[in-house]
Amino acid sequence: MNKLQNVNGLKLLMNLPGLLKNAPDTLTSISSGEKDILRVGFNKDYFLFLTRPEHYKYVLKTNSPNFPRGKSAGDLKPILGNGIFISGEDDWKRQRHYLAPAFHTKFFEEFYPIVLEETGLFIGMLENAASKGIRPNFSFELKKLAARISFRTMFVNEKDLLKDELLHALDMIYENASFYKHSMRQAFRLLFKREDAFGYGSKVKPAFELIDKTAWAIFEDSLTGRKQPMEFVTVLTEEVNGGRIEKQEAVDEIKNIIFAGYDTVGETLTWLWFTLSKEKKYRQILREEVYSKCGGDPPKYEQLQEMNMLLMFIKETMRLYPVVWAFHRIARENDEIEGYPVKKNEWIMMSPYVLHRNRDLWNEPLVFNPYRFEGDSNTVPVRYDYLPFGQGPHVCLGNRLGMFELQVIIGAIVQKYDFVYEREHPGIFADILIRQKNKLFMDVVKG
Ligand code: HEM
Repeated sequence: MNKLQNVNGLKLLMNLPGLLKNAPDTLTSISSGEKDILRVGFNKDYFLFLTRPEHYKYVLKTNSPNFPRGKSAGDLKPILGNGIFISGEDDWKRQRHYLAPAFHTKFFEEFYPIVLEETGLFIGMLENAASKGIRPNFSFELKKLAARISFRTMFVNEKDLLKDELLHALDMIYENASFYKHSMRQAFRLLFKREDAFGYGSKVKPAFELIDKTAWAIFEDSLTGRKQPMEFVTVLTEEVNGGRIEKQEAVDEIKNIIFAGYDTVGETLTWLWFTLSKEKKYRQILREEVYSKCGGDPPKYEQLQEMNMLLMFIKETMRLYPVVWAFHRIARENDEIEGYPVKKNEWIMMSPYVLHRNRDLWNEPLVFNPYRFEGDSNTVPVRYDYLPFGQGPHVCLGNRLGMFELQVIIGAIVQKYDFVYEREHPGIFADILIRQKNKLFMDVVKG
């Protein structure tokens, strides 16, 4: 039997400020050069941290039934209810089964004009900023773009469905889900022995209520025929009308997609923006590739497959900045992960961010080099050293949709604009996602 490496006592104490402030980089440094599974924590409060692709494969795929998500996503339960991110394995299987068809690539042709129109509106904002010398806050504007696309492709194809106040409400909830605040809530739970002690505080309550109200309105308008829903909501109304699920579950699924569908794409876009400004050589190659195919127009749907650098550039950005930087599982029964003992109910933490920066797996991991992905035309490759969308039965349902959006948006914009960000690295702030610590206010320069 292999031996778990303990990260406890003084070593943990010394790393605690780093873990609370910047968990992704601190975990990268703690696990540097480690081949063993780490046991990180004090006494009974610990998690197992996987370090090798073989460990990931075992947990995510080979014996995935023994490693459900369990309560590991529980912090968001008060808002996400019993939707696909939170539900136990039996509900999850049923939900995945009825939701998956709504993500089929056959709908992308219908989504394409929506992505294009929203990108056009975004370009209009850029033009305006360029002419007036304004520096937009890209961290916000890109998220807004992703959210508008998500609402129109998933729920109802209406331009004014999404209000800015909802985006601010979502931001507030995410901010309260940081590693630091999560740790505070854990401490609160342990001290007061209250599972329901969500502890988000009264300021967040109106944000919860607004999201709930929005999801109910989307669902009821579709159920009663007041609005024509997109496929995702159609699937839900059919399930409710067929008596297979309750209305509450349908609304929970809408809230789950509100969370999963926009911020992931939006934050990936902000990292792409930052990378485009920094990696001038590759940006030029990318721009020439896209221009040679599209001649200044946005990429057509069928042209997306032909642009290798576009795909490689996105994949390499997602290697360095996989926005879902960590996910968790809980062992259902005692087990062995590649010879390492795991006990029932132990928490397992996995981090694509840490894995993607592992020196043993990637040559010069901190260097941006899109050619690492040369020759792999799969938008979502199946491998266990590269996991921006996870892997196995829980692999991201929106992975192809997310990649498609990124390809169209970046393809349309890279031909027209230069990206200027002369300051130092904006820093990392981690909650459920990794974001820039300093918001990306950038100049807009027509290229
Ligand atoms: C760049 C964009 C995206 C990234 C990086 C991303 C990443 C991920 C990751 C890593 C997981 C797996 C978590 C785990 O194993 O515990 C996941 C799951 C999921 N994602 Fe995404 N995602 C993206 C976009 C989207 C979009 C656009 C949607 C929907 C519109 C979506 C819907 C989901 C759902 C429903 C799950 C849960 C799947 C399940 O448990 O069966 N994601 N995503």
